[in-house]
Amino acid sequence: MNNLFEIDAWKIIERGFDPSKQKQAESIFSIGNGSFGQRANFEEKYSGDSLQGSYVGGVYYPDKTRVGWWKNGYPEYFAKVLNSCNWIGINIEIDGEQLDVHHQEVLSFQRELDMKSGTLSRRMKVRFKNGKELEVESLRFCSMHDEEIAAIRYIVTPLNFSGNVKFTPYLDGNVMNHDSNYDEFFWEEDSHKVDVKKGYVCSKTKKTNFSVSTAMRFSFWKNDELLEIHPNHVSKAFFVENNFEHYVEKGNRYTLKKYVSIVSTISHSEFSVIPRSINNVRQAYMNGFDYLLNNHIAAWEEIWSKADIEISGDVAAQQGIRFNIFQLYQTYTGKNEKLNIGPKGFTGEKYGGATYWDTEAYCLPFYLKTANPKVARQLLIYRYNQLDKAIENAEKLGFKNGAALYPMVTMNGEECHNEWEITFEEIHRNGAIAFAVYNYVRHTGDHSYLEKYGRPVLIAIAKFWTQRFNWSEAKNAYVMLGVTGPNEYENNVNNNWYTNYIARWCVQYALEVEKEVSPKVGALLTNDEIKSWNHLVENVYFPVLEGTRVFLQQDNFMDKEQLTASDIPEKERPINQHWSWDRILRSIFIKQADVLQGIYLFEDHFDLKTIQDNFDFYEPKTVHESSLSPCIHSILAAKIGRLDKAYELYLRTSRLDLDDYNHEADEGLHITSMAGTWMAIVEGMAGIRVLSDSVKINPVIPKNWKQYRFQILLRNQPLEIRVSQNECEIINKGSQDLELILFDENIPVKAGNFYIKTTTKTATI
Ligand code: BGC
Repeated sequence: MNNLFEIDAWKIIERGFDPSKQKQAESIFSIGNGSFGQRANFEEKYSGDSLQGSYVGGVYYPDKTRVGWWKNGYPEYFAKVLNSCNWIGINIEIDGEQLDVHHQEVLSFQRELDMKSGTLSRRMKVRFKNGKELEVESLRFCSMHDEEIAAIRYIVTPLNFSGNVKFTPYLDGNVMNHDSNYDEFFWEEDSHKVDVKKGYVCSKTKKTNFSVSTAMRFSFWKNDELLEIHPNHVSKAFFVENNFEHYVEKGNRYTLKKYVSIVSTISHSEFSVIPRSINNVRQAYMNGFDYLLNNHIAAWEEIWSKADIEISGDVAAQQGIRFNIFQLYQTYTGKNEKLNIGPKGFTGEKYGGATYWDTEAYCLPFYLKTANPKVARQLLIYRYNQLDKAIENAEKLGFKNGAALYPMVTMNGEECHNEWEITFEEIHRNGAIAFAVYNYVRHTGDHSYLEKYGRPVLIAIAKFWTQRFNWSEAKNAYVMLGVTGPNEYENNVNNNWYTNYIARWCVQYALEVEKEVSPKVGALLTNDEIKSWNHLVENVYFPVLEGTRVFLQQDNFMDKEQLTASDIPEKERPINQHWSWDRILRSIFIKQADVLQGIYLFEDHFDLKTIQDNFDFYEPKTVHESSLSPCIHSILAAKIGRLDKAYELYLRTSRLDLDDYNHEADEGLHITSMAGTWMAIVEGMAGIRVLSDSVKINPVIPKNWKQYRFQILLRNQPLEIRVSQNECEIINKGSQDLELILFDENIPVKAGNFYIKTTTKTATI
């Protein structure tokens, strides 16, 4: 695998301009602050191949569904995260020729994403057609400190001439979504205005009526001297610009500082978005670029102090994990309960930027251990707020009595996925949402959440499952027919083991919670319901491979031709790009963890031998064509001592986008699976398992790592773990004493104390 960009512990570095990598780079060097995000498009004009992308969290358009054959129950639309007003624009022109590196000679080029400070910078020297050479240095950030602010420092230095240069900072709301189903323009204009040195564009989404006001203001400097300039202003629909020509002197630096504010009706009223954005840029301008930058860097420092994983001895692995952590926090910070985590975050359009089960199954564990519990709680509240819609969704499919089916893909709680085998059948997503409630409570001990918000969600989900199972006379058990498990390379199967398992668990957990909570606040279930639910829990059917400990992915799984992924010729992989869909469906090959996903979630229900046997059965058949897959296999491989495999799968997940394993980084990054990478270290390598009253630690370390170190939050108490080749150190940085289980031994670690175990048990990969 070739590294796309240079390896560095804190930075992603691109040296030399290669237009064929531009779209990949635009994704990988994306910046964001949880509220909005921006692909690494150039500030100035670029006429080469590019995917322009500026996205505002939660703002979407219901793009009319496009399917070959309509099925009752399909949603009318697919929610699309919208490409919104281009706020980075700064055009540069010399003697009528625009700066556009697609047409000019690039003498040198370096682009850097500094993950520590959350800044994107670029430095390049360009020769114009008339021989004039210009150096451009830009630095930009989306403020982590103030979620409505972004800023750009754009410096030009004439290298071999003195003469006029035209500067044009602008805002352009005339932007389309690349993936629009019917080439529709999703915005209508609210208003725009521009005067000397400042302006705004306010656009409104058609149908959904979100308003987004983007305002700009700028200052212009010669070296360190603020210049008084008198720019022209131009405006038309969705567009404002200032422009001015300035006589620049050879060797001097001319800096344009552009302050931007993006304010939407996700957080503010329709009437306040424009004045607020204007006010924000005025304040930003007065505070100045360095002040904003310092606050932004301090906010990142705070995040890193909790969330960083330090790896010594393997810079590629270090860069990989930091990139994942960085992108996750750029996508979601938990400040707003209306926001969630799209599989591509703010780095591309694919998947619509909407919420999938990825959030609960992958991202939640990351935020639970690296951020204040409020952040994870926001993610749960998001689903709580959408419970009514989930009930409506289930009603549309014929379920009743308050049963809820959460959507496979959503922005506002309504289902917007439209492939029948996923929309109607990939119902296991309901289970991940219930599991998230359980996971949150065991990490935080927040039982008040369970009472007020968790219980109604759990009961409604359990009601769905109790109706979705049916009694089979033939099997004398409850069965579940016509589902798609996490492995989307099988559709419409009966008794998908994972779905049956998590569904039964949901019913069981809902019953437990009901028992715990109802004496205090009243019952939500009748005695008859409790009785029939218990009957179901005791009588669910699970397919197994007779005489073994292997759980079968679904009924009749063994009828398939028994091959392994190594039987697929390299040139036919990934199979989803080379094989017909029906061939994939008939084959044994598994897209992503399915039975193993269940074993991962409910690991403590199974003995080690069962985990091993299932891993050995399924791993060779798995092609890992979902980014969500290798991390789960890596965690289980570490658990059963297959350490080479654990490391191999870890590397694959951690550098998935940086090395573009799946040849799709140009479309955006795999944000949700990045949380899986983090899990592969914390739960895989370090073997951390949070139990309701304690935490287990079973660390291993790859042989090429000197040590790794990270912190997790447990009941909001920081616990630092350092694992080296011969010892494991645990520091209780909180104010409460902790009971830990290290290599199956109970270890009390008092508040403020540390514990070191020098051990040969710290196995070496
Ligand atoms: C996976 C799903 C996942 C979706 C979004 C698909 O390829 O199979 O499990 O939810 O991507 O990440």
